[in-house]
Amino acid sequence: MATNSQYFWGLILSLALYFNYTYSAPHVYIVYLGLSHNVHEPHLTSEHHVQLLSKVFASEEDVKRSMLYSYKHSFSGFSAKLNSSQATTLAKMKGVVSVFRSKTLQLHTTRSWDFLGLNLISSTSMTSATASPLQLAHGQDIIVGIFDTGIWPESESFQEEPHMRPIPTTWKGNCVKGEMFEPAKACNRKLIGARYYLKGFEEEYGPLNASGNPEFRSARDFLGHGTHTASTAVGSVVKQNASFYGFAEGTARGGAPRARLAVYKVCWGNNYSGRCTGADILAAFDDALHDGVHVISASIGSPPPLIPFFASEGVIGSFHAMQLGVSVVFSAGNEGPEPSQVTNVAPWSLCVAASSIDRMFPTRILLDNKLSIMGESLIRTPINAKLADATVYFYDGICTSRNWNKSNFATNRVILCFSTIGPYEIGEAEVAAKLANASGLIFVEPMFRELGADIIPSVHVNLEEGTRILNYLAESPTKPVVQIKASRTIIGKAPAPRVAYFSSRGPNSLTPDILKPDISAPGVNILAAWPNQTSPTLRRDDKRLVNWNFQSGTSMSCPHVSGVIALIKSAHPDWSPAAIQSAVMTTAYTRDTSFDTILADGPMKASNPFDLGAGHIDPIKAMDPGLVYDMKTSDYVHFLCNTGYTEEQINMIVLCPSGTDTSCPRVPESNANINYPSITVSNLQSTVTIKRRVRNVGKNKNSMYFGTISEPDGVEVVIWPRVLVFSWFKAENTYYITLKPQKKSQGRYDFGEIVWSDGFHKVRSPLVVCVNTAAQDFNEPLDLSYM
Ligand SMILES: *[C@@H]1O[C@H](CO)[C@@H](O)[C@H](O)[C@H]1NC(C)=O
Ligand SMILES: *[C@@H]1O[C@H](CO)[C@@H](O)[C@H](O)[C@H]1NC(C)=O
Ligand SMILES: *[C@@H]1O[C@H](CO)[C@@H](O)[C@H](O)[C@H]1NC(C)=O
Ligand SMILES: *[C@@H]1O[C@H](CO)[C@@H](O)[C@H](O)[C@H]1NC(C)=O
Ligand SMILES: *[C@@H]1O[C@H](CO)[C@@H](O)[C@H](O)[C@H]1NC(C)=O
Ligand SMILES: *[C@@H]1O[C@H](CO)[C@@H](O)[C@H](O)[C@H]1NC(C)=O
Repeated sequence: MATNSQYFWGLILSLALYFNYTYSAPHVYIVYLGLSHNVHEPHLTSEHHVQLLSKVFASEEDVKRSMLYSYKHSFSGFSAKLNSSQATTLAKMKGVVSVFRSKTLQLHTTRSWDFLGLNLISSTSMTSATASPLQLAHGQDIIVGIFDTGIWPESESFQEEPHMRPIPTTWKGNCVKGEMFEPAKACNRKLIGARYYLKGFEEEYGPLNASGNPEFRSARDFLGHGTHTASTAVGSVVKQNASFYGFAEGTARGGAPRARLAVYKVCWGNNYSGRCTGADILAAFDDALHDGVHVISASIGSPPPLIPFFASEGVIGSFHAMQLGVSVVFSAGNEGPEPSQVTNVAPWSLCVAASSIDRMFPTRILLDNKLSIMGESLIRTPINAKLADATVYFYDGICTSRNWNKSNFATNRVILCFSTIGPYEIGEAEVAAKLANASGLIFVEPMFRELGADIIPSVHVNLEEGTRILNYLAESPTKPVVQIKASRTIIGKAPAPRVAYFSSRGPNSLTPDILKPDISAPGVNILAAWPNQTSPTLRRDDKRLVNWNFQSGTSMSCPHVSGVIALIKSAHPDWSPAAIQSAVMTTAYTRDTSFDTILADGPMKASNPFDLGAGHIDPIKAMDPGLVYDMKTSDYVHFLCNTGYTEEQINMIVLCPSGTDTSCPRVPESNANINYPSITVSNLQSTVTIKRRVRNVGKNKNSMYFGTISEPDGVEVVIWPRVLVFSWFKAENTYYITLKPQKKSQGRYDFGEIVWSDGFHKVRSPLVVCVNTAAQDFNEPLDLSYM
């Protein structure tokens, strides 16, 4: 009897634990309440949060214990540890816009090392890509907030220049003390703010540094990513030679070298890989908008499937930023080249793709003094060894150390590895070659790849060259002698830019009528500042220390755009985020340095707007775009309606001057009608007419712009009127675009453009159309009786 009852209660207990675990284990949730109505008395907002939370908890202690953050300065909401039933109860309460689980986001450096759990490796040259005397003059009153892994304040990039003006009086931010972070030493007139947010991370991943995980409980950067992105956006001019062991040598500087820097550390090293939680990111938005930043640069995101807008911390934060006139720039992600992988797709923020610059590091490989092959690498000391095929050492020719435990067997050998018959990533091949004590690695890959701080000398060659080496090896009676010469840095020889293979591509899988990415910027082999106590490969066994490091990723292209936006903002302080976004997009170019269409790496085809958005950023032209497609908060209301938000929800989040219409149209309309600088119709079944509004921001108030069209295949395009006349009395004009499908097609995208020109400015919008006339034939009536 006793045993039976023990068994019975044991069963109940384990069932309870099971359900507890699966259904109601507490998680960090975000309860989003929209606008804060007490911006001047944030404690009232906080009291309200406590009141709400006490409705799902029995005691005040439980409420206190559960609450992580109260967001109260710039918008209203809180994050708390809740079980699912508490979350559901809160979601039903009046005044609650949305309740969702805090998510983990990633840093958008390239994924070469992700495979090894080393998310952060390589990139930047702020140098040649964005330099111009015009830019050097500006930016002093602009404050750029970087949401990242923190900052290495001792880097030359963050020292104040002589005669730098005092910190703008509008600044309300703070330089917060923490582990190895002394505000008086770290902050100056350049680095004017530094905060860190750890509660969400620790709730998700446990206490920081529990197992010798190197991190700093402060805004100090261990992973290097934040130092790198910050110096790319706003790094001071560093005159002394900046380089990575002599490569890419030159003057280092950010896009807006005189802009001020405010750091918000939201990403933390978890055993060397970066993790950023939504609860922490939202706290950073709440503070940064209150502190008075003008631009926010966030090289983070999570890959598709994309979540609804008001269940996304970045979308909520950037929406409030837009309402306060703050531009937000995100990276597109590194999930390319497959389609539909782009992330950070909200129309009120910018989404940046990555492309190469005109710099290469050619490296010559000589076999038996007979066969000469060019690869790319960062090799300083020439190598002279015997060549060996990976198949000799590695099971199935796969260059991985997983299935073997003998080491040092490739001493005085260079190993030839094909990524096509092994892991796709060079990271693991390098680890394997290093364990084998090889002298070097020739890594063969079909696509142009980024370079980094290798742990063993490694040359990248393409499949054609790799095949020549392999065939030579096969025909050679003895192991051939391979010489690898030192790599050189060359600039301006190969056509650039090219869209990086890893850059995430459109179409936008959440709201396909908004083209994403928006713009492309340099993100391959970028040299920028690095913490000089973190190894350039982020490996424990790498003892090298550097002040500058190469990194690649949309993480690196994002701060290039943020820097340019700081300059535009400085030149045009009254422009809205939408006007600045328009300026950046309509002046972008789509031809490379040899006047060909920019190439998309990966598929090796001519790029289209899904690869690089409106085009590659042109900082100088973006200062004077001629016309802008501007938008105010009210312009986004219809978008929110179309996207499924109710008027009630919209009223809770929209900061509108009284009298602005925040009601949804009776009949849902297409998002193609939002006044976006690019034009996308993702489902053209019959003739449609789209509206756009442009404002003249050129010096010449009396001007005339003529419209030209390049039609997508199978679509007749008419714009009306064809001429837009601007005057002192009429700075704004509306025009209409009629699109008529001329072919039978089942959902195929084609590309064209609309350009307005006054003879001097060219205001270009990509036109992306998916004709879907055949789809009707496939649409059988839905038989609900089977459901
Ligand atoms: C959720 O938490 C509340 C408060 O602690 C508790 O009363 C409730 O039973 C929990 N619900 C579930 C399903 O665990
Ligand atoms: C790191 O940088 C600081 C400041 O620039 C310098 O004082 C220090 O010597 C550097 N350490 C190394 C190992 O280079
Ligand atoms: C974190 O870990 C490092 C390396 O193990 C150690 O030196 C440091 O003291 C730790 N910091 C804290 C706050 O525990
Ligand atoms: C930069 O490096 C080049 C080549 O190594 C050298 O000629 C030049 O003097 C260096 N300049 C400075 C300021 O160190
Ligand atoms: C961190 O990574 C190292 C090497 O990959 C591994 O040995 C260690 O167990 C990891 N530690 C934790 C806490 O995950
Ligand atoms: C590793 O290779 C080097 C030459 O590249 C050699 O001097 C050394 O003895 C090798 N180590 C072992 C353990 O075989």
